[in-house]
Amino acid sequence: MGSLLIKNGRLVTVEQVQQKDLLVVGEKIKEIKDSFTAEEIPAGCTVIEAEGKYVFPGIIDAHTHYFLQSRNSTTADDFYTGSVSAAFGGVTSFIDYAGQFTGLTLAEANQRRREQAEGETVLDFSLHQCVYSLHPGIKDELAELKQSSINNLKIFTTYRKEGYMLAEESWEELFRLARELKLLITVHAEDNQLIEEIWAGHQSRTEVPPHFHPILRPPQTEYRAIIKLGRLAGQLKMPIYIVHLSSREGYQAVKEIRASGGRLIVETVPHYLLLNKDLLQERQAQKYIMTPPLREEADRQALWQGLQEKGIDLIATDHCSFTVEQKLRSNHCREILPGIPGSETLLPLIFSKGVRAGYFDVRRMVDLLSTRPAKVFGLYPEKGSLQVGTDADLVVFDPKKEVRLADAQQHSAAGYTPYTGIELQGYPLITIVRGKVIIKDGNFYGKRGSGQFLPAQESSFDQG
Ligand code: URP
Ligand code: ZN
Ligand code: ZN
Repeated sequence: MGSLLIKNGRLVTVEQVQQKDLLVVGEKIKEIKDSFTAEEIPAGCTVIEAEGKYVFPGIIDAHTHYFLQSRNSTTADDFYTGSVSAAFGGVTSFIDYAGQFTGLTLAEANQRRREQAEGETVLDFSLHQCVYSLHPGIKDELAELKQSSINNLKIFTTYRKEGYMLAEESWEELFRLARELKLLITVHAEDNQLIEEIWAGHQSRTEVPPHFHPILRPPQTEYRAIIKLGRLAGQLKMPIYIVHLSSREGYQAVKEIRASGGRLIVETVPHYLLLNKDLLQERQAQKYIMTPPLREEADRQALWQGLQEKGIDLIATDHCSFTVEQKLRSNHCREILPGIPGSETLLPLIFSKGVRAGYFDVRRMVDLLSTRPAKVFGLYPEKGSLQVGTDADLVVFDPKKEVRLADAQQHSAAGYTPYTGIELQGYPLITIVRGKVIIKDGNFYGKRGSGQFLPAQESSFDQG
């Protein structure tokens, strides 16, 4: 069995930052102590000197869409390129989505998605299962899904035309079933009725360019959806998880629901923290179209405040990449393929713009990007911790390395990053997955298909 010693690194967990040596044997963390003497280092051990560097538990991107086939298109990143690019950013596991398909049970659809990732991904992964509609037999399907180690569902409160929206009259039935089976419901929360009403008022326009997108999907739609969902979950005394919170109003809804006793687990993503809708006035503004749309400065500030006051629980990316050519195919904001790349820049952006900017410390960053996602989605402590005996998923991070983000230096097949030009201080140097160094000093040493499916336990984190 191979071994690896990370010497003198500053090991960061939610509880503490300590300078220690960390020994990996095979795929697991074997021992952590102040210092290994030369005699104690196993023969043939690879030694990584990490003085002045942080060692984080591997980052978990809990919201990705790699190899998404949707809207007659396929994302630029498949499971291989998506996971490789994520690995360059210190991500060691991701959680993607399985669709619901007519003619397949949920477990079968999930299995199909799992097979698409296996043999391709270089990172370990889990899956959320989407539910677009209910039908007789759904209870048995959900029970079967749970037997296959899936504990999270995903619903959309919008995208009716695309066929992804779970009709409002079905919410309660699904919520009750999920509560009974202890499945966590995650939600893309935008009020579809309001979106359709607003669109009806603009439908006759000959041009609906990118800067119209925030007008067509304003923050009020997020507010309304969270209030409705939160009230229902509150009545049923169950937690739900809100994905990609984007706005001040959305955060206000979260606070109102919690004040009335509701339990919400809340995710945001870097683009709502770091970008704003001014980008939608630029040349090639299509590159910045995603749903919900980019917002105002005040929204950005509210989200940072939400993180600071611990009202937002974790950060993922909603990585859904298209090439510039794919993005520019339309200038109609409702037809531009929605989504942007993000996994590779998650950790460096949040370190520089969250930790360095003083919004929170490095221990909390580890919580937001690794420990909480692992707990919420039933992967802890194997993932999201530095506990002896668990998977050696690790990031060696240089807090001093200066990087200016640029399209060419990124590894996503999108070929661009929406964060081009942003100056960072702090960047991952080495990414280790189950004891194997897969990224070191800008080079990839992993093997296609080496990533494994992660059977999820029930959620062990509940804000309530
Ligand atoms: O624009 C986005 N976010 N595309 C991915 C699908 C979704 O809604 O999360
Ligand atoms: Zn979404
Ligand atoms: Zn998404």
